[in-house]
Amino acid sequence: MDKVTDNIIYIGVNDRQIDLFEGLYDVPNGIAYNSYAIIDEKIAVMDTVDAAFTGEWLGRLKEALGGRTPDYLIVDHMEPDHSAGIRSFLREYPDAVVVGNAKTFNILAQFYNDADISGRTLEVKDGDTLSLGSRELKFIFAPMVHWPEVMFTYDSSDKVLFSADAFGKFGALDTDEDWACEARRYYFGIVGKYGAQVQAVLKKVSALDISVICPLHGPVLSEDLGYYLDLYNTWSSYGVESEGVMIAYTSVYGNTKAAAQLLADKLTEKGCPKVVFCDLAREDMAEAVEDGFRYGKLVLATTTYNNDIFPFMKQFIENLTERNYQNRTIGLIENGTWAPTAAKVMKGMFEKSKNITWLENSVTVKSSMTADNMAQIEAMAEELMK
Ligand code: FEO
Repeated sequence: MDKVTDNIIYIGVNDRQIDLFEGLYDVPNGIAYNSYAIIDEKIAVMDTVDAAFTGEWLGRLKEALGGRTPDYLIVDHMEPDHSAGIRSFLREYPDAVVVGNAKTFNILAQFYNDADISGRTLEVKDGDTLSLGSRELKFIFAPMVHWPEVMFTYDSSDKVLFSADAFGKFGALDTDEDWACEARRYYFGIVGKYGAQVQAVLKKVSALDISVICPLHGPVLSEDLGYYLDLYNTWSSYGVESEGVMIAYTSVYGNTKAAAQLLADKLTEKGCPKVVFCDLAREDMAEAVEDGFRYGKLVLATTTYNNDIFPFMKQFIENLTERNYQNRTIGLIENGTWAPTAAKVMKGMFEKSKNITWLENSVTVKSSMTADNMAQIEAMAEELMK
């Protein structure tokens, strides 16, 4: 049995069968659906797991219970990767009560309209508490982190924060990989749009004494919590995490790539702390998006296409702007053989983005680079290094 504390037992599962998480995200190292059992005078189970793993999860729960039965199933998040086991749980433990808020139960009824939960619910409000005997759980609403019904649960006795999707990452728990890389890709992919809501809940939890964070994905965090909290603060406030320049490009015949490459070389020559060179047609889009938010400076290079811009660039910019991309410096390199319009289109796509600084130097390539273009790229590199 995996213990988080003496009385909190990990009962989650690793999914290495999944191809696309949420039908969208490539997860080469799978994903974990975390669930926990809090054993006290009363027993609370924290969320369930994905449908494909409900049997395995019920087995782990049974082992953790040691012959007892659970009193509560606390539903911090209704997305089916965490709620699919609710019906099986209710059948297995007919005396247990489901704890959630008004929105939880609305969504539960929509997803599982065949689940009979009448007389088996406990509806809580933001800040409500629930005693398990020797410990009290407090419910902290975290709307839109990542769905409207989401709440965190805080165990003040063990100083454990159950944080729903927040502080989660891609990757099964038996994967040995850096936390920040896959947590950042997860954050910006899934929660990135809701920075203001994440800031609001970070403020609420800042008053709590926390020793352990138990997310619904990724490892339990028990050391150096300031590191994770600081990153979440940077990400959700759309701050710059790392110094450097991201050059995101698309290229049909290699000419736009050559211009982007020349800029990358110039930046490296000038000692730029980090140059991320990203082919948007071939890089994982979620990886490109996290880099877009990680660095403070972004150069976009693309071709004019159907009097618009190349599709992968369009998708990339939409991914940034719909996640409230802001507070950044952007430079533009366009290519067009007869009527270059890509720079204008790209700039227009950021019209609603807050606090964008545009580089004075931009580059228009007509089919292939000229000596003038090379000088413009040199000037762009100079400006980026200021
Ligand atoms: Fe892990 Fe929003 O579900």
